[in-house]
Amino acid sequence: MPELTLNTIPIKAAQAIRQAGFLAVLTGAGISVESGIPTFRDAQTGLWAKFDPRELATPAAFARNPKLVWDWYAWRRELVNRAKPNAGHRAIAELERRTPRFLLITQNVDGLHRRAGNRKLVELHGSIDRVKCSREGTIVTHWQPTDNVPLCASCGAPLRPDVVWFEEMLPGGALTAAEEAARHCDVLLVVGTSAEVYPAAALPSQAQAAGATVVEINPNRTPLSASADYTLRGPAGWVLPALIAALER
Ligand code: OAD
Repeated sequence: MPELTLNTIPIKAAQAIRQAGFLAVLTGAGISVESGIPTFRDAQTGLWAKFDPRELATPAAFARNPKLVWDWYAWRRELVNRAKPNAGHRAIAELERRTPRFLLITQNVDGLHRRAGNRKLVELHGSIDRVKCSREGTIVTHWQPTDNVPLCASCGAPLRPDVVWFEEMLPGGALTAAEEAARHCDVLLVVGTSAEVYPAAALPSQAQAAGATVVEINPNRTPLSASADYTLRGPAGWVLPALIAALER
């Protein structure tokens, strides 16, 4: 499979994206690196190099120490709210404007795609900006300020971020929409994901099995690199604008 250290976008990859009647894009934490948000699995800088996901991102962790989990997400929410969409996010918003049928499937909870202008998107792992009741699952927008974890006004259970933790199911509607897009798209562009976390990691092979062209953008090799039709090596904030420029040629 062609694997390139990018100076130019391969003509055939650009052609496939230009001609796609239905373009799907799958993103992971790598798309937001150039906005100053760390990934999870990068060796030195990833969140899981510094923090233990079992202590912060599982239902059991929240049951054991809700305050630790609440505060960790509050810290990440602040980081995300200070960040701005980068050239990669803006290029994906541009792809939505240019393509007849489009779906962005993101594993990110940071909301930067929406802030960049994407509207046709599913957030597979939820949104760090939303809060829900940990018992009833209802979305909550107001709560009593407290030094501890705020409580649901209706049932008194602690509130939690509306994100998907390890061992939890993905929001059903979002996963169905993502799998349907994988089955019907002409091209699946996979940007900035280690392609290690399922079910999102299964989408590229589902798309390819249904006849789609899979194009990967990532500065590093991933388990997807060997099977992708094209792998464009480089940071998303640089490769994606180059891709948009190539579409105009
Ligand atoms: P990972 O941290 O697993 O992978 C990030 C990917 O981004 C890696 O493949 C990097 O090589 C790549 N990357 C780094 N810098 C980049 C750049 N400038 N441009 C493009 N790519 C770059 O993050 P995800 O694949 O998103 O789930 O992880 C998937 C899920 O695992 C997350 O949603 C999160 C995590 O645990 C939950 O919290 C449930």
